[in-house]
Amino acid sequence: MDKILVHGGPRLSGTVRISGSKNSALPILAATLLTKEECIIHRVPDLSDIHYMLQILAFMGCEVERASGTVIVRAEKLSTLAPYDIVRKMRASVCVMGPLLGREREATVSLPGGCVIGDRPIDLHLRGFEKLGAMVRVESGYVKLFANRLRGSVVPMRGKFGSTVLGTDNILMAAVLAEGVTIIEGAAAEPEVVDLANFLIAMGARIEGAGTDRIVVEGVSSLHGAEHRVIPDRIEAGTFLVAGAMAGDRVTVRRVEPSHLAAITKALSVAGFQISTESDAITVGRNGSLHPFNLTTAPYPGFPTDMQAQFCALATLCPGQSHIKDTIFPQRFMHVAELKRMGAEIDLPEVGRAVITGNGRLSAAPVMASDLRASAALVLAGLKAEGVTEINRVYHIDRGYEHLDDKLIGIGAQIERLKTGRP
Ligand code: EPZ
Repeated sequence: MDKILVHGGPRLSGTVRISGSKNSALPILAATLLTKEECIIHRVPDLSDIHYMLQILAFMGCEVERASGTVIVRAEKLSTLAPYDIVRKMRASVCVMGPLLGREREATVSLPGGCVIGDRPIDLHLRGFEKLGAMVRVESGYVKLFANRLRGSVVPMRGKFGSTVLGTDNILMAAVLAEGVTIIEGAAAEPEVVDLANFLIAMGARIEGAGTDRIVVEGVSSLHGAEHRVIPDRIEAGTFLVAGAMAGDRVTVRRVEPSHLAAITKALSVAGFQISTESDAITVGRNGSLHPFNLTTAPYPGFPTDMQAQFCALATLCPGQSHIKDTIFPQRFMHVAELKRMGAEIDLPEVGRAVITGNGRLSAAPVMASDLRASAALVLAGLKAEGVTEINRVYHIDRGYEHLDDKLIGIGAQIERLKTGRP
């Protein structure tokens, strides 16, 4: 398992080119299963999660080619099994259920493992498939889906924690080939859902309302191949804006869709940073004193849970008490114990809430990455900490950030990656 050493102190400045969105590319790659024809997907980030998804498609019999950021998939013949030993590596593999059910009327997909940010159930996905006429059985750790016919229906997608992004994706990908009209009530409105819908429409699907909480799908008999460019990764962009806020003079993220980051840039402004926006770029800079802030995560367009850990790290620099609540993944505070090892003053008075007392005094320490966004938060803290922070288990970072260390070095950070050779 590689580790990285982050030297605290260098000031960051310059421009980072943002990659395509991981959380958009994953369901879009799954959607290529819906047609026998060739699909060409551009701006697919080079991440281990993407690698796992391509492994699953290949395991199912797809022809998969990859040339730098472009992936070509031909799903002419298809098995409908997604095995445990691949699914366990990446829970987003569950989003192959919808296209397999839509195209083949059956699927056998391993139940995803839990993960450190929460137990990650898929009950809303499975209930949605039943609404469309599928039979669902869970046995020996696998979900078995079968449908003689898929019929359009009203499918509620809201659970006790709000809507479900991959659940909305899954139902969308089954409904596009169902008979009749499906109405997804309480649909997730994330930009990544809109991007998937746009790809499906390019394949010949009939979808209205993507980006709202009510999506209407008119089923068609078949879909054809299509070409698509994945939207920019708003969470990668947000992570670099926080890096610029914490350790930068002026940092620009380019090739972004600024409207996708509205909640993030608003939170940075409230904390006292200066934000300037162009058509495809956002710049963050200092603007006098910093202020504590209060944040509560919410489904899009609210503040994203995937930026919660990064803002916990930022709050350690803002004098006063900041309050951060995660209503989507209340357990998602694994980064707190590690930040405290670096001198941060953080309390967890109740599940789902952190109180951070900004003291600006972070000091380097060996820390352990636990999940994708917590790992990024530790790198950000290391940029400011006195000394050299050693971050272990950086495979978490490589799952969701394309060359994070290289991109940070490109704007002035001093980071070394040590290959320990151990798997
Ligand atoms: C997607 O996960 C993202 N992953 C996550 O990003 C992101 O944190 C999450 O949406 C919320 O925005 C991908 O898109 C690949 P959910 P997803 O279903 O779809 C509960 C990252 O860091 N729920 O929207 O799996 C669930 O427990 C990752 O890039 C049910 O109760 O998340 C959670 O509390 C981490 N039943 C809430 O809903 C269900 O059937 C939202 O989960 C499904 C979900």
